[in-house]
Amino acid sequence: MFRPTVAHQAIKVLNHLTHSRAVTAAFRLSVASPFFRPLSSTVPLFKHEKKDPKKDNFLAATTKAPEGVSGEQEGRFARTDKNVKIEYPDDANMPRSPIVQGRGGVHLKRTLAQFSLENKVSLVTGGARGLGLIMAQALVASGSDVDIVDLNKQEAEDQAEKLVEQFQKVNPGLGQMPNITTHYADVASLSVNGAIAEVIQKHSKIDHLVTSASFTENFDAISYPHNPMLKLWGVVVDGTYLFATGVARQLIERNVPGSMVMIGSISGAIVNVPQPQAPYNAAKAAVRHLVSSLAVEWAGHDICVNIINPRYMLTTLTGKILDENPDLRYKWTSHIPIGKMGTPKDLMSAVTFLLIGASRYITGPELRVDGGYTLV
Ligand SMILES: NC(=O)c1ccc[n+]([C@@H]2O[C@H](COP(=O)([O-])OP(=O)(O)OC[C@H]3O[C@@H](n4cnc5c(N)ncnc54)[C@H](O)[C@@H]3O)[C@@H](O)[C@H]2O)c1
Repeated sequence: MFRPTVAHQAIKVLNHLTHSRAVTAAFRLSVASPFFRPLSSTVPLFKHEKKDPKKDNFLAATTKAPEGVSGEQEGRFARTDKNVKIEYPDDANMPRSPIVQGRGGVHLKRTLAQFSLENKVSLVTGGARGLGLIMAQALVASGSDVDIVDLNKQEAEDQAEKLVEQFQKVNPGLGQMPNITTHYADVASLSVNGAIAEVIQKHSKIDHLVTSASFTENFDAISYPHNPMLKLWGVVVDGTYLFATGVARQLIERNVPGSMVMIGSISGAIVNVPQPQAPYNAAKAAVRHLVSSLAVEWAGHDICVNIINPRYMLTTLTGKILDENPDLRYKWTSHIPIGKMGTPKDLMSAVTFLLIGASRYITGPELRVDGGYTLV
């Protein structure tokens, strides 16, 4: 009959003998040759007590235990869940974004002159709604004229009117109103060139670019339909590239400095959970490296290229998503050290800071506006 303990003892003795012979041989050889390095052998651990991971909490939490043994918390906040489906509403069902209320214009506090965007023209893609709209408002408040370029021209026009009204309200008596124009473009197509030409015709120049146009869809990677995936990459990657090169071309021709801020996402650096969205993540990662590449390529032309990577911001769109998927609120906020989602207002200073003259030595790095989410 087979007795494991007897077998173990026999192997142990054998191992010991082999080991001693090897050591003696190695010693002899090492005396003969100064370059010889003795072989080592390790005595296996035979006295390992076999524990049942189901009954041992410590073992259950290790890779020695099968999946699920230590409870449903295993990897719970670190995995995608293909059952989480977020519908991106069509334009007709997309809620309008409110602009930020309050004093945003002239104020009498002392600050660096370089902190102003006075006499500048800034183009914002995707500026009809969400983060793009509020960043456009920040640029207007800081002195810039603004061109809103969007697929949705009507919404862009309505919002541009509201921006001027709001500016007038907080700056009564100020003679010169900001010049805000609106233009149609599908950023994924060559209609971009027409929009840039139209902006130059109206403002005679473009100094700054902010690319915010994008959309998100989520499917698990295997189910992602090919055409929507191409569309997503077109809008995020081509849309950023076409505008960046179009604006850089005219800056280089005019031989003047300029700045660009691409809106990426922390999804371009980490995998946001729980909803699976591999193509969106990959597209944002492409934008991230595009920014580094363009920052280097255009540094000699005095064009700064930077990226802001936000985490979930409470826009009317994400608000609608959370209303329809209440579970997500808990999942989205539980790993943010600040404990809250950001709002579009939280990007106002970030975008302005990266465009002002005082920041001309900053090119290439990413500015994460994420409440500390990517730190933990
Ligand atoms: N909201 C967030 O929580 C969040 C988080 C991280 C990153 N982002 C990024 O911030 C940017 C803005 O997001 P948002 O939440 O404001 O989105 P949003 O959907 O509210 O606004 C996007 C805007 O882009 C426009 N647009 C979409 N496709 C276009 C196209 N092909 N051509 C021209 N315009 C087009 C839309 O009409 C809309 O006005 C996006 O790049 C997004 O990936 C958003």
